[in-house]
Amino acid sequence: MTTALHIDHLHKRFGSNHVLDGFSLQVEKGEVLGLLGPNGCGKSTVLHIVCQLLSYDAGQILLMGKPLSELSHGARAMVGLCTQRCALYPDLLPAENLHFFARLYGLSEKDRKQRVAELMGRFALENFARTRVGQLSGGWQQRLHLAVALIHRPALLVLDEPTAAVDVEARMDLWRLIEGLRDSGTTILLTSHHLAEAQRLCTRVALMRSGTVVAQGSVPELTARVPGQAVAKVQSQDEGAVMQRALDLGWPVRQHANQLRLLLPHPLGLREIVDALDGTQVSAVSVHPVTLEEAYLELVGDSAMMASI
Ligand SMILES: Nc1ncnc2c1ncn2[C@@H]1O[C@H](COP(=O)(O)OP(=O)(O)OP(=O)(O)O)[C@@H](O)[C@H]1O
Ligand SMILES: [Mg+2]
Repeated sequence: MTTALHIDHLHKRFGSNHVLDGFSLQVEKGEVLGLLGPNGCGKSTVLHIVCQLLSYDAGQILLMGKPLSELSHGARAMVGLCTQRCALYPDLLPAENLHFFARLYGLSEKDRKQRVAELMGRFALENFARTRVGQLSGGWQQRLHLAVALIHRPALLVLDEPTAAVDVEARMDLWRLIEGLRDSGTTILLTSHHLAEAQRLCTRVALMRSGTVVAQGSVPELTARVPGQAVAKVQSQDEGAVMQRALDLGWPVRQHANQLRLLLPHPLGLREIVDALDGTQVSAVSVHPVTLEEAYLELVGDSAMMASI
């Protein structure tokens, strides 16, 4: 059995708000699956249902091959969750937090000590052994949060926007930690608004809109669905003329967040692009590879706020 999580036609309503509308997703053991989509599309709702923090109305969920509805509290121990908001005790030391959650999950005293020491070392938390958690930087709090989510050796690690609230340097550190977990075979389901993060960390990505998955695959599989081999971002006083010329050339045109993007049939140099657009007013052009951002814009649209490093 290689499937860690199997979600089939999941439905969830909050009153008249039909938040999950036939949501289906599969996470294989050992993969890092990134669930991406605009604010309010239902990502956290999926995660909370998987962690049994929320009920659902219809559909089927199998966790390690067993129906979630039959697992009751056992399921909680199979999953380690890092919520969008930090759930640590600010007045306790890092190790005290780890001990607290280890006890909550029923680890024996011997196992608890061993596991806390192991995670303090692995996440380099020993540097702050004497610092109360409330005094730690956001980045270090999030490291501890990750360690807490792993304390009971869950079969599936669930991370809800793990780097949303930290600075660039801390984000890079967290990326390295998550990459380390991925490379040692941890199965991870994560959400993010950060497309470069998803591109770097995830072995597969599911793109979500209005409560359903609209596309999924590896990053190369998703970028292959963009009808272009490269993207030219163009600034012009007369965008209409540039768009018309691009269309005459057979180059698909996109406009996202007031930025004009031309999808090139093959990678072209700046000179070739400027020559091709000759006769139109072009004030700046830059050429970019097709990334997950392009695939997201193509397949989901640009209603979401997207971050860059
Ligand atoms: N407990 C709740 N009661 C009522 N409505 C809720 C509840 N939790 C979520 N919702 C609604 O469900 C929808 C999906 O919310 P959810 O938090 O799953 O979105 P999200 O994709 O995680 O968004 P974000 O990217 O902003 O974190 C939203 O319309 C939200 O207002
Ligand atoms: Mg959310």
